[in-house]
Parts: sequence; C-alpha cells; structure tokens
Amino acid sequence: MDPQPLKGKNAIVTGAARGIGRAIAQRLAAEGAQVAILDIDADGAQRTAAEIGGSTIGLAADVAQAASVDRAFAQVADQLGGVDILVNNAGIVGTDTPVKDLAEDDWDRVLDINLKGTFLCSQAALRYMLPQQSGVICSLASISGKEGNANMAPYSVSKAGVICFTKTLAKEVLDCGIRVNCVAPALIDTPILQGMDQDRVDFLTAKIPLGRLGRPEEVAATILFLVSDESTFATGQCFDVSGGRATY
Ligand SMILES: NC(=O)c1ccc[n+]([C@@H]2O[C@H](COP(=O)([O-])OP(=O)(O)OC[C@H]3O[C@@H](n4cnc5c(N)ncnc54)[C@H](O)[C@@H]3O)[C@@H](O)[C@H]2O)c1
Repeated sequence: MDPQPLKGKNAIVTGAARGIGRAIAQRLAAEGAQVAILDIDADGAQRTAAEIGGSTIGLAADVAQAASVDRAFAQVADQLGGVDILVNNAGIVGTDTPVKDLAEDDWDRVLDINLKGTFLCSQAALRYMLPQQSGVICSLASISGKEGNANMAPYSVSKAGVICFTKTLAKEVLDCGIRVNCVAPALIDTPILQGMDQDRVDFLTAKIPLGRLGRPEEVAATILFLVSDESTFATGQCFDVSGGRATY
C-alpha cells in the first residue's frame, strides 16, 4: 500500500472534535490528507485540529443548518483548496424513550442532525466534487439502522435513512467519478456512551459476539479503506464494523 495514500487530498470530517470522528481525522491526516474538522463544538474542533497538527483545521458548523454547512464548506475550499473526501460522522443518540412516550422535538432533533445533516453535507460536497468529477463520501450509519433498537426509534430510523441515502446517492453519481459508502458500527467506546443508561450499554455490549466494545481506531481503519483508492470497486454499500453482530 502507498505509504501516504491520501497525499494531495482534502478531507472534511464532521463531528470530529472527539470520539470516532476524531480518530478518523487523525488517521486521514496520518495518511497524508489535509483535514478539516467541522463540529458544533467550535473550541473542541480547534483544539483537536491543533492536537493533530500539520495542516489540520477546525471550524464551527452545525450540520443540521444549511447556511452553517455551506459557510463551513466554502471556508474549507478556500483554506485547503477543494473538497475530495467527506466523512459524515456528526451524530447524536437522543433519549432512551419508547415510541409511546417520545416527544416530537426529540424525534426532530435526532433526524435533523443524523439524517438531514448527512444530506446537507453531502449536497455541499457535491458542489465541489461534481465539477472535478471525483470524490468520495463515507457516512456513519449504525447496526441500529439495520436491526432497530428498542427505545431508540429516532436514532435507529435516522441510521436506516443514512444507509438508504448512501445507496440512492451512489446510484446518482455512478458516472461522475464519485463513490458513496457507509459503515455500520456496533457499540464503540466514545463519549456518546455517556449519554446512554449503563443498562443499555451493558445490553448492547452483550449482543456483540466478539464480547467487547469497538475502538474508534477500528472504525477509522475501515473508513480509510473506503475513502482511499484501495476500494475503487466499492460504492453504494454499508460496511459492517460490529464485532460480528450484523447478520447481513
Ligand atoms: N459510539 C458508538 O457506539 C456508535 C455506534 C454506531 C454509530 N455511531 C455513530 O458514529 C458517529 C460518531 O459517534 P461518537 O460515538 O464518536 O459520538 P460523540 O458523541 O463522541 O461525538 C459526536 C461529535 O459530533 C458533534 N456534533 C453533535 N451534533 C452536531 C451538529 N449538529 N453539527 C456538528 N457536529 C455535531 C459533537 O460535538 C461531537 O464532537 C455518530 O454518527 C454515531 O451515531 C457511534
């Protein structure tokens, strides 16, 4: 494999101030990409960018707001010189609530960030990728989007939406030199778990045949494969990173 497979590429990773996104940003930068971290946590984005170093930049952006996304992508294109790779990673888990008690606002918030955010950022990226007839988009879905987890309807539905959005967009841009894929992790050890009840974390960990939580670096390694030229015949797919939990 090329020692710097992403040299000369400009990558945007959303929600990369911490967690899986941070590990992805770190790995893409290590493989030669110029990386822009977009996060609603502006201080965190800048801090993480400084820690990764090199040409990494950190910018404030709310992926659920079109104006904020467009502003941030324009800034990235201006500062880095273009957009070749987009990783739609920003996401929230929402509350642990059965559908019968779910508030409309809770539904909207999770769908806005996880699914609409993926759409808005992908659309913004296409404005740069289509004219150059090249680019790669990879989004974070979840095993929840394949199986549905009780008391996590907005999250599970948003991630099922990310999987279907991936397949749809991949078909639209097949002839444009742009590949679109997503990954479906099971439970990964990040700060997102702090927003979940411990009983739920234990229950979901017990469902993983490998018997442990995944590590952010393990997801980042799969993403690297999907955004690099090592996967040029793969598009419109959802790749499993679930420790054996996924059955399809
Ligand atoms: N950790 C897991 O177990 C797991 C499993 C499957 C999928 N995922 C998915 O992986 C992605 C990353 O998860 P994580 O565990 O690293 O989460 P995390 O909570 O550790 O990090 C999420 C990041 O997204 C940012 N963010 C939240 N709302 C945003 C918005 N509106 N605009 C921009 N940034 C925003 C946060 O500030 C944070 O930096 C998410 O899409 C999540 O659904 C996580």
